Amino acid sequence: MPSFPPAVKIVEVGPRDGLQNEPRDIPVAERIALIEGLADAGLRVIEAGSFVSPRWVPQMAGTTEVLAGLRRDAGVSYPVLVPNMKGLDAAARAEGVEEIAVFAAASEAFSMRNINCSITESLARFSPVVAAARARGWRVRGYVSCVLGCPYEGEVDPARVAEVAAELAALGCYEISLGDTIGVGTPLQARAMVGAVARQVPADRLAVHFHDTRGQALANVLAVLDQGIATVDASVAGLGGCPYAAGASGNLATEDLVYMLDGMGVETGVDLARLAQVGWRISDLLGRPPASRTSQALRAAQAG
Ligand code: HMG
Ligand code: MG
Repeated sequence: MPSFPPAVKIVEVGPRDGLQNEPRDIPVAERIALIEGLADAGLRVIEAGSFVSPRWVPQMAGTTEVLAGLRRDAGVSYPVLVPNMKGLDAAARAEGVEEIAVFAAASEAFSMRNINCSITESLARFSPVVAAARARGWRVRGYVSCVLGCPYEGEVDPARVAEVAAELAALGCYEISLGDTIGVGTPLQARAMVGAVARQVPADRLAVHFHDTRGQALANVLAVLDQGIATVDASVAGLGGCPYAAGASGNLATEDLVYMLDGMGVETGVDLARLAQVGWRISDLLGRPPASRTSQALRAAQAG
């Protein structure tokens, strides 16, 4: 019998990774309601937005206003993505930032398309960002994208993922999230990749971030839970994708993750019924059913 962690920390990325890919602008008040609803449902880490170029990702414009209007709960962290010093300065001017995330890639082509620089340049750019954030007493999370495949380059070597993850850890990121940006990976590949990275960065500093493009996200989580991974990124209602990864669909749905972990007796602190309601509200606003099968089943049961 594999040994699973007693508890999993869920990093809710819907208000950022989810909404950044929506064709329609979501009003600031709705972004705030989404984040507050997620906190009420028990999520303790909720990505609140990004300080990136509004020309690159217009959906995340207004993050300053989101942070200004947000009711903050004790014990909840509201990280924001920051790609450079300009983003850091904007985060510093905004209200209440205590945690940021920088984002690198394991593939050169994706790095160019996403942040307009090579992997090496991105790490050099992040170095002062991480240092300045830490000098302010902020925590910094690091992302590695394309850990199981790249939309432009195809296969990605786990050794390259491990290298980039180790560099982010060395810069001072307390946690490294490993992103299957386009949702191509399958469970044994996910295990091999996590195994390779964990030889460089201890598994208790790693998180997994699976997109569900091909229906593999939950299986991939299950495949790595006995490798010391106890932090999983997910997105309410399976919102999301990535504007620089054509065809990438939403993240693993938080509802599906919570349902599975509840069933395994793994603690998450999340109230599934409340979470589902939050997912219905944002899905209604977007005019489509939630991508989460658990959410759909709960809604059907409620409708009788
Ligand atoms: P660039 O064009 O090379 O930047 O973009 P630049 O420094 O030359 O500046 C160009 C313009 O952008 C200037 O404005 C700057 O002021 C402005 P102009 O003078 O032309 O009017 N600018 C900014 N504005 C606001 N905030 C900033 C900022 N920086 C420059 N921080 C840059 C480089 C990194 C800015 C750009 O490529 C960018 O914003 N990229 C963000 C892309 C992004 O957000 N992607 C989605 C997040 S990553 C993801 O989803 C994957 C993840 O979920 C994990 C996974 O699934 O794998 C994390
Ligand atoms: Mg993502």
